[in-house]
Amino acid sequence: MRTTKVTDGVFRLSANVSNILFEGMWQIPNGVAMNSYVITGEKAAIVDGVCDWDGVPETLYAQLDQMEITIDDIDYVVVNHMEPDHSGWLRSFRELRGNDYTIICSKKAKPLLEAFYDIRENVQTVQSGDTLDLGDGRILAFEDIPNVHWPETMATYDTKSKTLFPCDAFGSFGAVSDDAPYDDTLTEEHIEFFEREMERYYANIVAAFCTPVRKAIAKLAPLDIRIIAPGHGIVWRSDPGRVVRSYKRLAEYAKGPARPEVTVLWGSMYGMTQSAVGTAIEAIEAEGVPTRVHRVPETEMSFVLDSVFQSSGVVLAMPTYEYKMFPPMASVIDEIGKKRIINRKAFRFGSYGWSGGAQKELMEMNDRLKMHWDWVDPVEFRGRPTKEDKELVSERAGELARGVKAWALAERPA
Ligand SMILES: Cc1cc2nc3c(=O)[nH]c(=O)nc-3n(C[C@H](O)[C@H](O)[C@H](O)COP(=O)(O)O)c2cc1C
Ligand SMILES: [Fe+2]
Ligand SMILES: [Fe+2]
Repeated sequence: MRTTKVTDGVFRLSANVSNILFEGMWQIPNGVAMNSYVITGEKAAIVDGVCDWDGVPETLYAQLDQMEITIDDIDYVVVNHMEPDHSGWLRSFRELRGNDYTIICSKKAKPLLEAFYDIRENVQTVQSGDTLDLGDGRILAFEDIPNVHWPETMATYDTKSKTLFPCDAFGSFGAVSDDAPYDDTLTEEHIEFFEREMERYYANIVAAFCTPVRKAIAKLAPLDIRIIAPGHGIVWRSDPGRVVRSYKRLAEYAKGPARPEVTVLWGSMYGMTQSAVGTAIEAIEAEGVPTRVHRVPETEMSFVLDSVFQSSGVVLAMPTYEYKMFPPMASVIDEIGKKRIINRKAFRFGSYGWSGGAQKELMEMNDRLKMHWDWVDPVEFRGRPTKEDKELVSERAGELARGVKAWALAERPA
């Protein structure tokens, strides 16, 4: 990896990571970039950092070498966020460097520094409105942005170059090439790729914190921001407003409506439920509403969440299993509820053998997780669906689609 210049006195260092499950669970087939930034005045600061996985901190040190900066030249380490994807390297840095430098972090980050890395000395806490003068006219200002992503998270703003370092906020999945880490060096097609990766990152990592995201955007709005340099993904240099608009839109999606689309999630053991899935899809599409179709558990949770997050309507098709829902569907719904993807229009159908039970458990989860989903009447059939069962599925799926269109287009015109 190469060091690149963001703007005068600001440099991007980065490591791409792949072949892992992010946070131990999310698939990242396109990898993810961990970005750090070196900011120089008379003194030098490094903002954000990388994880401690094999070879990653070494990648960071090699990039410092390219700048002809030794780790001894770093006066300040600004820790915006303590999640180990950004802070993991601190231990190796301290081993190499000793503690002759100052860590800048929020008050809530300090106990985490101790608990994670046994770091107690030379830690200076800051809060919203505090500044750090690096000399040569370069003053860093700090703003707490709690819960984007953890309670201790803050953003750093370089008043000289008007660059915002918001860590997880405005980030995305997707490995970034050293040749083109900036929006002004990427083609529109590539930017759109990162926007898609951003949507999945948002649905997986940030979705539960939409209110804090909205508050953070409002708090940062008075700043004159020319560049957004996040902890993951590309740097927004020519049009930082674009990523802010995307995050604003995504923050609205959680409580609906999202896009005028329907996600169809289905699972089936022996094909009984499956045999009505096509009927539902046809009925929805006949109303001019696009569908995104995923079989569970075949489709990994990261992609299921992304899809549901972006859709105003959801079809859940699954049978009864041991008096409850088909278990992979239950775990999907549990995760959707915990991510606070609320207020969807929804329709469930499925097969049972003797007692049923899936529908009851679904409604219990809907209530327990306070999902506030608005349900079209369910369709349950014994064994294989009859012609009449399929007609009912078609009718209700159509009803769902019309509801989605009216709601999503009224509140969020396409
Ligand atoms: C392991 C297992 C457990 C089941 N438990 C129940 C049950 O508790 N109540 C019920 O009505 N049907 C139960 N069934 C029957 C299925 O719901 C029924 O066969 C249904 O048609 C399966 O639909 P599918 O082919 O879409 O999976 C169970 C089936 C299996 C294989
Ligand atoms: Fe994080
Ligand atoms: Fe992160």
